[in-house]
Amino acid sequence: DDAEYKKICENHKHLIETLPKCNGWRTLHLHNYNGYWLSTKILKSNLLIHAYFKSQPTDIFLASFMKSGTTWLKALVFSTLNRDRYTFSNHHLHNHSPHSIIPVIDAESYHITDFTNLSAPRLFSTHYPLPLLPACMSCAKLVYVCRDPKDVLVSKWLFMSKLRSKDLPPLSFDEAFELFCVGASEYGPFWEHVLSYWRASLENPDKILFLKYEEMKKEPEMVVRKLAAFLGKAVTVEEEEKGVVREIVKLCSFENLSNLEVNKTGVEKFGKVLDVEKRDFFRKGVIGDWKNYLSDEMKERIDGITDEKFKGSGLTF
Ligand code: A3P
Repeated sequence: DDAEYKKICENHKHLIETLPKCNGWRTLHLHNYNGYWLSTKILKSNLLIHAYFKSQPTDIFLASFMKSGTTWLKALVFSTLNRDRYTFSNHHLHNHSPHSIIPVIDAESYHITDFTNLSAPRLFSTHYPLPLLPACMSCAKLVYVCRDPKDVLVSKWLFMSKLRSKDLPPLSFDEAFELFCVGASEYGPFWEHVLSYWRASLENPDKILFLKYEEMKKEPEMVVRKLAAFLGKAVTVEEEEKGVVREIVKLCSFENLSNLEVNKTGVEKFGKVLDVEKRDFFRKGVIGDWKNYLSDEMKERIDGITDEKFKGSGLTF
């Protein structure tokens, strides 16, 4: 009830006041909660998830570090899962943005939204690292997408600079670089985020599918087949003959999605936390744009961190 909710929020407020802080990329502050940096609202939302969110075993979660290909993954999973429901000439994604069809659990008002009206399998997305997800979600399936941290850094800095409060001085790329390297950015550290899901995917490959943006770019059809099988709807011979996989890849391509009117105009609302211009989810959509922003020295430094953090994990870029 309302009194209980107020009490819970009050407790969360006190907890947050005790946590270490650093400068945010979008907001004034981030708080360090269990090793991860979150803005005040996103942290509050996380605490509320633990109090209110009830996962169902049929749920499917799409997880990612920000700017790693979430929008693309949403479109791919939705169209793969629902390939019998729509034709490719008249598809739901033609007039619904990927973010509007899959809610982000990080920005909801949990005492009022309970998602029980959604039919199974429910699709959700999140940027929280695995250790910050409630235990009830461990029964659900999860698809994680990761991306070269150099491209993530550039994409994130450009994106967050647009969303950054106008009351704050701009964040220079050099500052963003330094912060990123020490893990201090929304949902960071990047490397621990990725590793949390990577390790879990090795332990539990039937529950967690780990994808890379780069592999999606190079072999999108293979990734769609992998997704379909993982989601329990393997692509059939008949579908292969009809070219269904190719249709899904084409529908979800950067060129196609970014040119749809529904993705070019208007704003995407993430709860009460954030409004984002829809077109800002589509920038270049390529591998290696970091070359236009990072010096050789910066590249060496990030690659060095990645090598060290991922050493022995089996994960490489
Ligand atoms: P760039 O800024 O490097 O272009 P997220 O969806 O997690 O916010 O990530 C956004 C990044 O994915 C942006 O990267 C964006 O251009 C790219 N992107 C969006 N849709 C895409 C698609 N359909 N195919 C490939 N990349 C896409």
